[in-house]
Amino acid sequence: MKILVISASPRADGNSHALARSAIDGARDAGHDVEHVFLDDYVQQMLGNCRMCRRPQDGRCSLDDRYAELLLDKILPADGIVFAMPLYFYGMPGRLKTVFDRLFCYTANSAPEQDVVVDGITGKNVGVLISCEESYVGATQGVAAQFQELTRYLNQNLVGVVVGNANSRGEIVHDPSDPLARARDLGARLFAIRVTDYRIDTARSNRVWDGAVHS
Ligand SMILES: Cc1cc2nc3c(=O)[nH]c(=O)nc-3n(C[C@H](O)[C@H](O)[C@H](O)COP(=O)(O)O)c2cc1C
Repeated sequence: MKILVISASPRADGNSHALARSAIDGARDAGHDVEHVFLDDYVQQMLGNCRMCRRPQDGRCSLDDRYAELLLDKILPADGIVFAMPLYFYGMPGRLKTVFDRLFCYTANSAPEQDVVVDGITGKNVGVLISCEESYVGATQGVAAQFQELTRYLNQNLVGVVVGNANSRGEIVHDPSDPLARARDLGARLFAIRVTDYRIDTARSNRVWDGAVHS
């Protein structure tokens, strides 16, 4: 499968990059085709007023950076996306939030590529890797909840969220909860991890795992 790993930290030698590298290694070892991008190279502008920004000749977004390339050539063709990010003020970094904000310009009814983008953005398996200084659960709960809603809205599957604690560059290797191993596993099993979202009438047996011993 094709996996795109998106690094949202400006620190290319930072902690979330270490998480991204582990996920990449795991995914490649599992036989997946992995591409890794840094958001800094693609996203420089924030969402504007689409009515003012669209090019008069074809209605396309006129913001002058590489967002369209990221979305159309990299995000849409991927079967899975892994977002690697630092926690900034209990949320995702602004540049990453802009990736979602600007999706509006490509999915609105007035967008020339609406059908292609809506069709291409759905159905992906998504993993999230977060590096942050603080360890209490509430610190990352907002981001996790936002990704749960984003993926639900985009008709994607949120497969897992890995949180590691670190501040200085690279010190995430010392987190005893071993977030690098968990990131590696998420990359390797992005399409194999069990994701459920039952309704009361979902047909299912009373067992979760085939072959499990029960009493
Ligand atoms: C602008 C900014 C805001 C931050 N806000 C938080 C925060 O709210 N909670 C937290 O635990 N860490 C916070 N941090 C610390 C980073 O999340 C942490 O250093 C992380 O490991 C950096 O990842 P990186 O090396 O990939 O850039 C913040 C750091 C910066 C630069």
